[in-house]
Amino acid sequence: MLAFNHCAIDRTVVWISGASSGLGLATAKAFRKAGYAVVSGARSFTECADTDVGYTLPLDVTDDNSVSAFAQRALSLYGAPHILVLCAGILVLGPFEEYTMDEVKRVMDTNYFGQVRMVQAALPHMRKQGFGRIVLFSSINGLLGIGFQGAYTASKHAIEGFGEALSMETRPFGIEVMCVEPGDHRSGSRKYRAKGGALRETSPYYRAFSRVTGIIAHDEEHGSDPDRLGQRLVKMMQKKRLPLRVCIASADQRLAVWLHRLLPGRLFERILAMYYKAWKKDSGNKKR
Ligand SMILES: NC(=O)c1ccc[n+]([C@@H]2O[C@H](COP(=O)([O-])OP(=O)(O)OC[C@H]3O[C@@H](n4cnc5c(N)ncnc54)[C@H](OP(=O)(O)O)[C@@H]3O)[C@@H](O)[C@H]2O)c1
Repeated sequence: MLAFNHCAIDRTVVWISGASSGLGLATAKAFRKAGYAVVSGARSFTECADTDVGYTLPLDVTDDNSVSAFAQRALSLYGAPHILVLCAGILVLGPFEEYTMDEVKRVMDTNYFGQVRMVQAALPHMRKQGFGRIVLFSSINGLLGIGFQGAYTASKHAIEGFGEALSMETRPFGIEVMCVEPGDHRSGSRKYRAKGGALRETSPYYRAFSRVTGIIAHDEEHGSDPDRLGQRLVKMMQKKRLPLRVCIASADQRLAVWLHRLLPGRLFERILAMYYKAWKKDSGNKKR
């Protein structure tokens, strides 16, 4: 089914984290529909069942034991993974000054350390078989920072660096690493977009926070179709080579990424702040 460099595999095995919702769910369904042997993990999967996202197994990517148990059970189902897709992620919205350290750590533990744990569980098997494809879920926020998504932005920037380093290390073993950078998609799962617990209406950031996060929510509600992203990833896996990065976003979001690369940092910051109405007078930032 999948033509890797040196061998053709009849039954390509895919492990996917965060497959109970949003892009992970859409991606798992797309792989399953295309005939791959899929093992899907998420905290809300309580038992091993054969579903439209493949076999579901409980998985908490922040817990070493849970990751190890997932890997053991997934290995016993289909053997070593050929493709690892790491979608599990959370977002805590808030100003840095008012995040609790627990919130910052929770985001990092899920979005960055969670992907590292999963890679460590799958990599020895991929290396032994001499091939594998690792798909790390970054974001547009892995390329540029957006206020009030600071913890998330930091975690996704970590994924970008992790992906580059991992790719260099594992390429000699026939393993390809790709960072996926989605723009806004309609995931419909507000429960994963928590507001920082300490943020109050009396906060000096509150008005700017409300405006910026209102625009973020609007953009996500009117974002791209998760199923199309899933289908695109399946198609990419049928290609001989993977790019190091793929940005799957609307034209204006890809333009923003391009401008971020080209423009002086302060100029880009000003444009972004205008878009998000982040520096209106009442935000307490009269002059910049
Ligand atoms: N949607 C977008 O517009 C967008 C844009 C850019 C990047 N992304 C990235 O794409 C990925 C998916 O985002 P999404 O918005 O589509 O998904 P989502 O609907 O927010 O769902 C998040 C998924 O992560 C799982 N998850 C959360 N914490 C977990 C943990 N500790 N262990 C295991 N699974 C965990 C959840 O399942 P359980 O609660 O069942 O564990 C759920 O399946 C994320 O990495 C996100 O950062 C999304």
